[in-house]
Amino acid sequence: MSTDTVKHEQWSSRMSYMLAATGAAVGLGNIWKFPYIMGENGGGAFVLVYFACILLIGIPVMMSEVLIGKVGRQAPARSARLVSQQSGGSGKWSIVGWFGSLTGFLILSFYVVIAGWALAYTYYGFNGMFTDQTAVQIDSLFRGLNASGAELMAWSGAVVLTTTLVVGLGVKDGLERSVNWMMPALFVLLLVMVGYASQHGDMPAALKFMFNADFSKLSWNGVLVALGHAFFTLSLASGIMTMYGAYLPAGTSLVKTSIYIAVMDTVVAILAGIAIYPIVFANGLEPGAGPGLIFQTLPIAFGSMPGGQIFGGLFFLMLVVAALTSALALIESSVAWLVENRGFKRMQAAVVSGAVIWLLSLTTVFSISGAEWTKITLFGNETTMFGILDFTTSNIMLPVGGLLTALFVGYVVKRSVTEQAIDSSAAIYTFWRVCVRYVAPIAIVLVFLQLSGLVSF
Ligand code: PFF
Repeated sequence: MSTDTVKHEQWSSRMSYMLAATGAAVGLGNIWKFPYIMGENGGGAFVLVYFACILLIGIPVMMSEVLIGKVGRQAPARSARLVSQQSGGSGKWSIVGWFGSLTGFLILSFYVVIAGWALAYTYYGFNGMFTDQTAVQIDSLFRGLNASGAELMAWSGAVVLTTTLVVGLGVKDGLERSVNWMMPALFVLLLVMVGYASQHGDMPAALKFMFNADFSKLSWNGVLVALGHAFFTLSLASGIMTMYGAYLPAGTSLVKTSIYIAVMDTVVAILAGIAIYPIVFANGLEPGAGPGLIFQTLPIAFGSMPGGQIFGGLFFLMLVVAALTSALALIESSVAWLVENRGFKRMQAAVVSGAVIWLLSLTTVFSISGAEWTKITLFGNETTMFGILDFTTSNIMLPVGGLLTALFVGYVVKRSVTEQAIDSSAAIYTFWRVCVRYVAPIAIVLVFLQLSGLVSF
């Protein structure tokens, strides 16, 4: 790796950064994943634990990641190396950066397939394909889509193509221009859906389910899920926050922007629950339906509700917009890496990254469509390549990346560097430092011990 640095573009304002970073954070995790893991883990009690994870681990780790980018001003690997060397540390700490970028890249390979489902469902919704359908018919719609490798390839291919073209146009002309209208559109769509749910759904039942803390339903496994989701939903340990931090305009507060992003992300997740659960309860559907909640359960409700054709379509359109602004962020650090290390032009780098992502996405596509070559037996369990990719990235690589970041910024980077970059009151700085040095590493290690069965709570 050469030591010279490349001059990258910067966000034109603090607002653009916040829109882009909020767009990166708000995604399938908020609208597809959060409601169903909340449903599976006891509603309100889970939400409280999740809040604690966001505050004590998520926000401090986010600040650490943005800090690496803000000080290094390069793609994650090079930024981490520069920041380490500046503090007299080893260049090997570049692992904090490249491991994150690699995780983000692998996540993107299946993220685009789920986003492809959302795109297909937007089309189905607006075309009245949910109207008056029974649960069995909705189920066969989902099965039909998944049985066809060609259809899945086409829908996810459209997501990859859009992402590639936007990122190829650059930070200002591509990323910034698209998030400037996509984020407001996302909020409007979300508010429209909340309004629709309050008109036609069972809001009291939904609110009771979401905010009544029933601790008897919360297991230790639920606590682990909450921690893992805090990383997933805030886009931590995936190269994103360091990369977007590298484009920060001078003088932007790390503390304020990170809190803002985490709060907005949480608000969207809660609003998504408030848009979905009233409809689920009003139609007598199962709130803990798992990953299929949105694609298998919700369309049954839309199919029988007034205006369901329009609102069903709008709901999935909202999911597409949320997924796209995250996909842009997930690919960005690979594109910047190619520009830095291979001397590529941006569009070239985007096309190469997009092509590799699309090829990699085929393992997920064919796992879902049931191709034999994707089936794997691991420790006696039958799974697929997609199952392994999802489990390894979400449950192992994200927490390990978070742990590495916390240890690096908490112990290797000099206090003078972090103090200057965080630039806040002594109390806030101390809170942050205690979280990254002690709270986050201990919590993550406990999660691993619990998962490995070495310790059980
Ligand atoms: N935070 C986004 C979401 O919740 O969907 C996207 C995302 C980014 C997911 C990075 C996971 C990740 F590691």
